[in-house]
Order: sequence, then structure tokens, then C-alpha cells
Amino acid sequence: MAEAARPVENTPISSGDLDALKTEFAAAVAAADSIAALDDIRVSALGKKGRITDMMKTLGSLPPDERKNRGAALNVLKDEIAAAIDARHKILADTALAEKLARESIDVTLAPRPAANDGRVHPISQTIDELVTIFASMGFSVAKGPDIESEYYNFEALNLPSSHPARDMQATFFLPGSAQAGGDKMVLRTQTSPVQIRTMKAQKPPIRIIAPGRTYRCDYDMTHTPMFHQIEGLVIDQSTHMGHLKGCLLDFMRAFFGIDDLPIRFRPSYFPFTEPSAEIDIGCKRPKGGKGELKLGNYGDWLEIGGCGMVHPNVLRNCGLDPDAYQGFAFGMGIERMAMLKYGIPDLRTFFDADLRWLKHYGFVPLDIPNPALKG
Ligand code: DAH
Repeated sequence: MAEAARPVENTPISSGDLDALKTEFAAAVAAADSIAALDDIRVSALGKKGRITDMMKTLGSLPPDERKNRGAALNVLKDEIAAAIDARHKILADTALAEKLARESIDVTLAPRPAANDGRVHPISQTIDELVTIFASMGFSVAKGPDIESEYYNFEALNLPSSHPARDMQATFFLPGSAQAGGDKMVLRTQTSPVQIRTMKAQKPPIRIIAPGRTYRCDYDMTHTPMFHQIEGLVIDQSTHMGHLKGCLLDFMRAFFGIDDLPIRFRPSYFPFTEPSAEIDIGCKRPKGGKGELKLGNYGDWLEIGGCGMVHPNVLRNCGLDPDAYQGFAFGMGIERMAMLKYGIPDLRTFFDADLRWLKHYGFVPLDIPNPALKG
């Protein structure tokens, strides 16, 4: 059959036209600089109306043997173009991803910005943490009692009957209309001492607890706030005596204030729930002429810091313990006072003003442990 009989539009007969097409598409693919551009090329070559597709459509009009060769050649070309597009696609996608990752990368070595609202631990919370840490290291555990107490636990069981004049010393908040059967009213606890009673009633000796917590009295001036904090201590067994009490408080005071030679002194006193009773003084130096700060240490002067004594037999009896078999000591201290002395905070009332500037100044950065004695 003569060459000329072939339809012109379908011509590409030699493989030369396919080579040219291949070169043309290879150049276009290599030049495509975006996935969108590459997609356009794919459509123009292999799409429904693409040039390769168009050529495929002309195969039917070719004589069988030519159709076979040309079909095979077109298929090869089609695959080659598709492969070139895929390869280029991968390069463009990889480059785009790398650029995106570079753009979005986070420098984890960068120092964090200082937070605008960094919180502080209130000096009372900090002080309670320190008290608990020291007493825990001495074998004490922490006991708790309710802020709203019955008169029985707050006074009666502590050897303070209603007729007792010492009740008036603690300006009590009574809860109106709270009288129980038997006339027992509810009060906001005036001291943490009722936790002694609750503990002795709940567990058998040996007992070794501290009870830090809120206490309430109807008072407000330079040195009193209606709510304040105390820490109570109680040790009960069959042999603990006043020497243990003094050694325990001496070790505690030295650890808490971080002063190795801080002296303590027991001054005879009276509390209804202890016998004998003592006031605890620690060594100090007062500022001369009212100038400067009070300094704690072995300077010859004394400062009262709490009360203590041997638990009164009546209190043991009230808790079902035989005073001939069991004995022990108790102590109580004001937590605000301890915090003021340790951290040089001059005014008690500021503790509860909720003034953020005060808290920034006197508060503690969480995880900061200021007393080196407590570290490690
Ligand atoms: N509860 C006493 C008060 O609030 C403090 C106190 C003194 C507690 C002597 C005690 C103690 O346990 O033995 O003034």
C-alpha cells in the first residue's frame, strides 16, 4: 500500500513525531515549577482531550500491523510522560514539604518568654509546707479536723468547762442556732487543739501528729485577724516526757529558722489542757531605739513563739486513755508569726488583703525552696 493513501491528520507515522512529542513534554515537565502547572501538563497530554489521548483515538483508522506498532509506541510514550510527571510531582511535593517544615519549625532551644501572670505561693502555704516537711522528717504525720467545731471538742474535752474563765480569753465566733441536744453549740474553732481530741479518740497510741490549719477569733487589730493559722503538735505514748518536748521543739526551731545555735527557753505558764504548761521562747535581739529589725539568734533576749506542756490527765481521760498508762506532750504555735519572723513580713493584716503586689513581693515561686536546710 502506498504511503500517500494515509489520512494526513492522523499522520504521525514515523516514530519521529513521537520523539519530538516526548522531548516537548519532557521539557515542559522539567520546567513545571508547581504542582498546578504539572497538572495542566498532565491534562494537556493524557487528559480526555489531551494530545496523546487524541493520537490514541486515531489508531482505529490505521492498518492492523501499523496500528499495533503505533499503539505500542504510543503506550510507551504515554507511560514515559506519566512517569516523568510522577517523578517531577514527587520532587515538587518534597520541596514544598521541606519549605513548609522550614517555615513552621519550632526552635525548642529558645528560652521561654516570661509569663505575664506567674503565680506565687502565699507565705502561709509556704510556711505550712516547711513545717510539715520538718516535722515529717521527725516522724510526725499530719492530722486534720473541721473548722466548724462543737464546743465540746473546742473547749470541754480540752479541760475547759463552760464555767472556766479561760474560755473568755478566746473571743469565740458562735454559730447562731447551732445548739445541739445537750446545749452543745457549734463554733468556728478558736484553736487547733481540738484536733488532739479527735486524734486520740480515733487512734491508739503511740501517736505523733501535727495539725496545721485555720483558726478563728473575733479580733481585729495590728496583731490580730479574725482568721489566722495555728499548728498543733501531739505525742502520746507510755514514756514521752518534757525533755523530749524540749528537744523536739529545739530541733524544730533550729531547722525552721535555719539558725544552728538558736536557743529556746521554757517559761512556766498555764493552759487548761496541759500540766505542767510552758510558754516557748526563742533567742532574739531587739532593735535599739526601735530602729532596725528584730534578729533571731543567741543574743540573750527572748521572744515568745508558742505554748506547750504535758497533756493533762483529764484530757487523756476524756479521750478514753488511762493517764496512769499513757502520757505525752502537746504544743501550739501561730503560723503567721512564724512566717513574719522568718521572712521579715512586718504587718499581720497584709497576709489577708489579697494584694497582688504584696504577694509578688513576699510570695514564693513554685518549686523554689528558700530554706537551704530543707533542700535535698
Ligand atoms: N491552743 C493554744 C492557744 O490557742 C496554744 C497551745 C498551747 C496549744 C499549749 C497546745 C499547748 O497544744 O500545749 O493559745
